[in-house]
Amino acid sequence: MKVLGVSGSPVRDSNTDRAVKAVLNATGLETEFIKLTDYTVAPCNACLGCVQTNRCVIEDDGIMLAEKAKSAAALIVGGFTPYSTLDSRTKAFIERLYPLRHQHGYMAGKPGGAVITSAVPPGCASLPPAADMGVNAIQFYMMEEGMNFLGAVKVAGNVPCIRCGHGDQCTMSGITMLYGADATVESVGVSSFEHQPEAIATAEELGRQIAGALASA
Ligand SMILES: Cc1cc2nc3c(=O)[nH]c(=O)nc-3n(C[C@H](O)[C@H](O)[C@H](O)COP(=O)(O)O)c2cc1C
Repeated sequence: MKVLGVSGSPVRDSNTDRAVKAVLNATGLETEFIKLTDYTVAPCNACLGCVQTNRCVIEDDGIMLAEKAKSAAALIVGGFTPYSTLDSRTKAFIERLYPLRHQHGYMAGKPGGAVITSAVPPGCASLPPAADMGVNAIQFYMMEEGMNFLGAVKVAGNVPCIRCGHGDQCTMSGITMLYGADATVESVGVSSFEHQPEAIATAEELGRQIAGALASA
């Protein structure tokens, strides 16, 4: 019984990757971690070529990844939130699971969960609720496929301006936009999943819930 965890974050060993792995580890089950940047996955063409065959007509890695999702007992999807919503790589992966829907509902009933890393702090009134938007995109996919969505891990990530080299001079710096006029690269610092007890606890709880749902299935 394998639990599949997928990260759409392009950053090597990113917060998203590590949080997805934490959920997988907490299941105590056999798991597989997929980094989407290792594969080529085009978005859905909406051609309906998958309706009779449950197989996409786009001959890229999306076919193999959909097969992995089909054979997995549970699915964790992780992404980040460029411009306040789920990143396009993770979204394309989700769209390419559409072939699993027709006639059979191959994902229906499976436990699932989301991991979202975002830079906008929760409750920031002047910017869109990126974390919620990202979670919604994953949760609503799972809802529409009849999956058993068990929860989401929200990780505080890093605005890219922290490491671009111009964060304290740039007139478009996201650092002051997010944290106020006096904020600097140094005062904000780098956010890591490992320093976020709430996110760690949520990841572990989600893993346990996935295992519990599979045990009682
Ligand atoms: C082009 C770009 C735009 C971004 N825009 C937003 C945004 O609108 N809201 C937000 O919360 N984070 C935004 N971010 C920050 C990412 O969510 C952040 O880098 C996240 O920590 C990446 O996750 P990772 O550490 O797992 O790679 C943006 C990042 C990039 C690269």
